[in-house]
Amino acid sequence: MPLANVLTNHWGEPGVDTLAGYQQRGGYGSLRKALELAPAQVVDEVKRSNLRGRGGAGFPTGLKWSFLPKDDPRPRYLCVNGDESEPGTFKDRYCIEKSPHQLLEGIAITAWAIGAHTAYVYLRGELATQARILERAIDEAREAGILGPKLCGRDFALEVHVHLGAGAYICGEETALLESLEGKKGWPRLKPPFPAVSGLFGCPTIVNNVETLATVPAILAMGGERYAALGTEKSGGTRLVSVSGAVRKPGVYEITLDTTFRQIVEEICGGVPGGRKVKAVIPGGSSCPVLTAEQLDVAAEYEALKAIGSMAGSGGVVVLDESTCMVRVAWRIARFYAEESCGQCTPCREGTPWMARILRHLEEGRAAEGDLALLKGLTGSILGRTLCPLGDAAAMPVRAFLDKFRAEFEAHLRERRCPFPHPWGEQADELFAGAGRGET
Ligand SMILES: Cc1cc2nc3c(=O)[nH]c(=O)nc-3n(C[C@H](O)[C@H](O)[C@H](O)COP(=O)(O)O)c2cc1C
Repeated sequence: MPLANVLTNHWGEPGVDTLAGYQQRGGYGSLRKALELAPAQVVDEVKRSNLRGRGGAGFPTGLKWSFLPKDDPRPRYLCVNGDESEPGTFKDRYCIEKSPHQLLEGIAITAWAIGAHTAYVYLRGELATQARILERAIDEAREAGILGPKLCGRDFALEVHVHLGAGAYICGEETALLESLEGKKGWPRLKPPFPAVSGLFGCPTIVNNVETLATVPAILAMGGERYAALGTEKSGGTRLVSVSGAVRKPGVYEITLDTTFRQIVEEICGGVPGGRKVKAVIPGGSSCPVLTAEQLDVAAEYEALKAIGSMAGSGGVVVLDESTCMVRVAWRIARFYAEESCGQCTPCREGTPWMARILRHLEEGRAAEGDLALLKGLTGSILGRTLCPLGDAAAMPVRAFLDKFRAEFEAHLRERRCPFPHPWGEQADELFAGAGRGET
């Protein structure tokens, strides 16, 4: 079984969400170990681990930390990205729920490594329960003298604050997150400068995903090299995937990086219910180009997915079975991005609702000859032409659905209706329930 338990080994144990329970399991031992090392040694350990960011882009974590300017008098900030709004992705909220102190320990080690005395955890507005859990854990850790004016008794202050967003997908993009934290509208900034040089309040800032930071204690505990050896040459360790859609046992699983999508669907998640076959798998969240059933033997890993034109993204695996209409899924995804476009860049603001409208017309049997070419052309007018990657995130999946399931798109056009009998065609709506509710 390709399941792993590096990050999740203590999840679900009674009382482990409390400070006492976490410490009984050795919790905060990695922080104490880190505090015996110089900050640069901690950064080197994380570099050796080959840990790559779990928020979507997969950037090497230790390398990112080393981009902070040296000998800079400005304060440094750590921002923890828990916006988690990508349809299909639901693992960060579990990290917080199952083991809030694990995340706090990762934050504290990172803050020590990068010299930050303030950390902000930015949570998606709907995660009020997780915010309460984390705030309770912060209070416990402060009272115990782990956090606060003296980090574990050291002459190093660290305060951690939880901030709830107002429910905008774009605020997961790191610079929009910083704008939002500063109290402004969540519009992405032009890069460069990157946050490491000019981030929160114009100061050097590291933005890391919740799972990325929750992994750091395990790296300190086992050593970077051992952690790296669990993964592939370029991607160290293990990762969480959140699996939903047409499987018997959906949920959050920790996998080794050589695990294939076939293993995820069949061995880990118990296969497709009702004896139906897999038609497609979205490998890393709604923005990642869909895989066909013939591509299921690829590993759920950054390089392997890149080699076949897709992405590992944020680990949101959505399984679609043979009864699902691909035009409807593409429309559902396009509606989400049209709704969530911040409107700053014209290709994204105008192009995303236009794509959604064409897909809707196809699904409702109202599309015109030439609409498939228009749709493909639109994806090309958005890709790479926006300030932040939301435009790409919208265009890539639409293009992949169109290219890989062209026959279904043509059938919609030819028959002037959706050839899938309802209610099965509507399964696509359930998959991303709540995502995008506009006119498109
Ligand atoms: C539109 C958009 C939404 C994003 N949403 C998230 C998110 O919810 N959580 C997250 O960690 N990263 C998200 N990202 C990626 C962040 O910009 C950033 O790369 C990440 O937080 C860095 O952390 P990591 O290196 O630990 O992955 C998003 C990116 C884009 C373009």
